[in-house]
Amino acid sequence: MRSVLVLNAKGGCGKTTLATNLAGYHASKGKRVVLADFDPQGCSMDWLAARPADRPGIEGVAVWRDGLRVPRDTDWLIMDSPAATHGRALADLVRRADSVLMPLLPSPIDIRAANHFIGELNAVRKLVNGGVRLATVANRVREQSLAAAGLEEYLQEFRLPSGKPFPFLAGLRASQNYISAAERGLSIFEFAPARTLPDREQWLRILRWLSRSARANMRQKPD
Ligand SMILES: Nc1ncnc2c1ncn2[C@@H]1O[C@H](COP(=O)(O)OP(=O)(O)O)[C@@H](O)[C@H]1O
Ligand SMILES: [Mg+2]
Repeated sequence: MRSVLVLNAKGGCGKTTLATNLAGYHASKGKRVVLADFDPQGCSMDWLAARPADRPGIEGVAVWRDGLRVPRDTDWLIMDSPAATHGRALADLVRRADSVLMPLLPSPIDIRAANHFIGELNAVRKLVNGGVRLATVANRVREQSLAAAGLEEYLQEFRLPSGKPFPFLAGLRASQNYISAAERGLSIFEFAPARTLPDREQWLRILRWLSRSARANMRQKPD
């Protein structure tokens, strides 16, 4: 099983969007997917409730209410987290993950805030799960906004205090496709390909990195 935690201390940056699209992607590929919602707002569970019955099933777990038990034959555990997760709650989440994806809004303020959070995340990671892999994804990117603000280079150079890279995987454009997918319990991968081609292309590196990371984790030693 691979487990992915979608995490950022900030609300509204795209955690639920990344989690639900990943869940829909792997379900549409025939994988057994558990979508675990740690956020009492339950947005991932609302998304699942809207999912049409004729689409590949995803098992939802409202963790804040029911706790987390994962069936043994699960292929992908996708964990959606609440904003402002710190301290013990953060440690509990990171402990369960083999990869952490951190969505960021492409503004200098958001990226600076994320940088502080990365310090905290790194301290937790060392305590509970030195092998976990981390990466960022810029979300709701408007044409040229990353390049124009010089944010892309800044993101490329993210490092943990140990010097380990914190890869920047992709910028996802701001697109109505994410909004209509969210309303209908779908992922963008379940729309007609012509409509979502630019979005799918932006996901390729994310999907590849996540598939690699389980194997890489086995080789990686904690620092
Ligand atoms: N790339 C995107 N393009 C357009 N709208 C987006 C995109 N990503 C997220 N949104 C919208 O922004 C809002 C906040 O995103 P959400 O994933 O719920 O953030 P979080 O879970 O971090 O609070 C939602 O209404 C969502 O549909
Ligand atoms: Mg959310």
